[in-house]
Formats: sequence, structure tokens, C-alpha cells
Amino acid sequence: MSSTPSTKTREELAGEYRKVVNQILTNDRRFTVKDGHLIFDGADLHAIAEKYPTPVYVYSEKEILRNLREITDAFASRHKNTKCFYASKACSVMKILDVIKRAGSFVETNSKYEIQKALDIGFTGDQIVFNGVVKKESDLELAIANDLYLINCDSFYELEVINRIANRLQKTANICIRVEPSVPSATHPGLVTAYHAKSGIDLHEAEKMCRMIMDMPYVKAKGLHMHVGDQVPEVEPFEKATRVLVEESMRLEKVLGIKFELINVGGGIPTPYRYGPGDALADNMYGGINSDDFAEAIVNEVHKWRDDIEICIEPGRKVVGSAAVMLTTLSCEKTKTNYGENHQVEEIVDWKFVDAGYSVFCDQLHWGWYFNLINASKAGSAYNGWMKLAGPLCDGGDYFHQGVDGEFFLLPSATEVGDVMAFLDAGAYTIESQTVYNNRPRTAVLLVNQQGKVQLIRREDSYEDMVGYDIY
Ligand SMILES: Cc1ncc(COP(=O)(O)O)c(C=O)c1O
Repeated sequence: MSSTPSTKTREELAGEYRKVVNQILTNDRRFTVKDGHLIFDGADLHAIAEKYPTPVYVYSEKEILRNLREITDAFASRHKNTKCFYASKACSVMKILDVIKRAGSFVETNSKYEIQKALDIGFTGDQIVFNGVVKKESDLELAIANDLYLINCDSFYELEVINRIANRLQKTANICIRVEPSVPSATHPGLVTAYHAKSGIDLHEAEKMCRMIMDMPYVKAKGLHMHVGDQVPEVEPFEKATRVLVEESMRLEKVLGIKFELINVGGGIPTPYRYGPGDALADNMYGGINSDDFAEAIVNEVHKWRDDIEICIEPGRKVVGSAAVMLTTLSCEKTKTNYGENHQVEEIVDWKFVDAGYSVFCDQLHWGWYFNLINASKAGSAYNGWMKLAGPLCDGGDYFHQGVDGEFFLLPSATEVGDVMAFLDAGAYTIESQTVYNNRPRTAVLLVNQQGKVQLIRREDSYEDMVGYDIY
């Protein structure tokens, strides 16, 4: 995920980070500083942490809407027929889904309960697409009974199950055939989904699947589907993979005498986690491309086929990634000495402990993901203190691995117990992967609405929630 260790000196790294902090505090559409506190789209983050227990995630409705608009405008300015399905796995808190719905976007789901959540929020079946390598009978039954816009069919086994259920319900199942375009990308191996991966069927088998569907009275093939990967830092894989899908769609239309209604190109637009100039191919935390680049690559290829075909997109990370901060309170501190094998002093480490561990902020620890960190209580102070940061969990690995200089973070040297730390760009795939490890509750979630008012949109787990599952 992240770059190989830097060859820059600590002072050079400090200089670069101070520039980043300055840019965040003075020239970022989300942030300002007031009375030394970091303000997030109108909300004082230090004050929030005084009112609500930390750790806590704070989303900005404005930023979600700005991100969505950037994506949909990027397509609308190039193509007149695009449908945007927000990938709800990135954050499926009901109020966030409601914001997405009111903005006019649709939703992509990956399980029965993601479908049910979307329905409960008021999305209609024809505003929902359903993905996944394992769709159980009950999942597919819900999908077909609710006339989902698309079920992205992932295997021949799944097709048989879909056919059986659709026949029984006497309802048409709308299918997109997920194929593997076999295109690598410069993202993390765990995030590549279109190259040597588990998803989709071989491209050369799409014809066989189409022919089978043509014999199924209650199954309809609307087009081909792919998802190149997540946090993809270059346009080339999107271009290549779209070309593969377009060429195969054209060929199938010709040999089978059919006409597809759409092409579904999935998600994958990156969020910049590291700011400033940087080589995104060496370190995809820089993002590398934006919504315009993504749209340009895809639309150019699709227009070689038809300029009226519907393009479906499934962005997740880009919609919510930059739209949240994770607030955690500095709760303890100590200085420790690292000794070498001959008991020589190697390093004296200033350890700061926060109340968020990997149970509630797992990307940082499990994936080595990078997040800019601001002391929200002393935002404007000089950033001149090197420290290591750890969480509360009973696990030696529960410390923050990606700092400014290796594992060291640069914060104001006056940083002290009680200060509120804000990890930026914490909105995607974070709430969704929280656990109650060590019986520490999953966090509350707040929303700063468009008027700058802070609303609780999910409460923290209570003790009763955590023991409520146990039967004894
Ligand atoms: C099929 C599919 N569509 C869309 C997405 C969303 O991807 P991203 O959040 O990178 O936009 C994913 C993510 O894993 C996916 O698997």
C-alpha cells in the first residue's frame, strides 16, 4: 500500500508535513481554524468531543454532496445516460444512505441486509444493484422479489439459482454478467478485483452464459459488468478494462443478435490520503486520478461502441472517503526506551495513547493505510514534536504504523492528554469493519448537516448491546 521507507531526512519530512498541515488549515474546502480548534464544515471538532464520547466518526453532508456531484457531473458533461449506484459497503449508516438518496443517486449492495437497508430508506428495487461472489438463496429471493435493477451474476452456479428462483416467483431477474477483464492495476493486491481474482467469470465464457440466459424465460441479460479494483491510482486499467468489456459486448451483440441495454463499469475512483505532489503509482495513497479522469477514460472507450448506451457506475470510497474524520482523545502518555541487543540505548520514544484502536479504525492498522493527523484541540500550533501513537487494545500490534517518518507522527510538541486528534479522510470502509474486540464498543457516528448542525446518526454500542447476543 504505502511507499518503501523514505530516503528523505526527518527535517525534510517535517518540512513537507508542515506544508500539508498549512494547506489543510488554510486552503481545504472542508477545514478552517477557530480559537485553535479544527473546524470541519462548520463544526468545532474539539467541542464535539466534549459533548460526545470518543472515539467517534464525524461525517460532513456537504462533502458527501460535493463528492457525489463531482462524480455525476464528470459523467454528465461527457455522456447523457449514466446511472450512479453508491457502493453502500463503503458506509451503510442509514442516515448516510438517506443523504445519498436525497441527492438523487442510487445504491449498490452486497448482501441481503444491505438490500433491506436500502429498501427501508426508500430506494425502490429499480434503484438497487446487487453484487457478490456468494449470494445465498434468501439473498437472491429478496433481490428478485423486489425487482432489483441488476443482479451482477458472478458464476454459472449462481445463474442456476437465479433461474430457479425467478421461475418459482414468475418474476424477471435482470442480470449483468460479471466478467474478469484480466487487467492489473497499481493498487494494493488485496484491492484488485479484476485480475487473478475471485470475482466474475472468464471473459470467454460470457457467450455461453448469454446463450443459457436466452433459454431462460425469467432471466434477462442487460449487459456486462466489471470492477477493476479499489483506490486505483491510474486511468490505464479503467481504459483497458472498459475496452475489453466494450469489445466483448459488441461481439456478443453480433454473434447472438441481441442488443445490450447497458455497461456496468463498477467503482474504484481513489481518494487522496496523502496530499501534495507524490508518485501515486509508487504509493496509491496519493490517489493519482480524480472523477474527471475516471469518467474520461470510461466514456471515451464506451463511445467507440455507442454514445447512447447506459453506463452504470458503482463508486464507494470516492463518495464518502474525504467526508469524515475520526476523532480520538489522547488518553495516556509515557516515555519508553528502546534498547539494542547489547543493552545500548537505541531510541527514546514519546508514546501517546489514544482511545481508538484497530477495533474501530481498522484500515490504519490492518492495511497500513495512511491518514493525515491533526491535533484538533491545538490545530494552529507549530508541528514540531515527534511521537508514536498507539491504541488501547491488548495487542502489541495496536499502534499506528503509518506516520510522517515511518511510525513517528509529527504533532504540536504541546500535544497532551485530553487533546482531540482528528484522522482525516476516514469515511470509507471504516465504520463497516468495526468490531467489539476487547469488548470496546463500536463508535457513535455524527453528521454535520448542510447548515453546520451536528446530529447523532448512530449511537455507540452500550454494554447491553454487546452482551445482548450471548445466550447463557
Ligand atoms: C463490485 C464492486 N463495485 C463497487 C465497489 C466500490 O469500489 P470503490 O469504493 O473503490 O469505489 C466495490 C468495492 O469493493 C466492488 O467490489
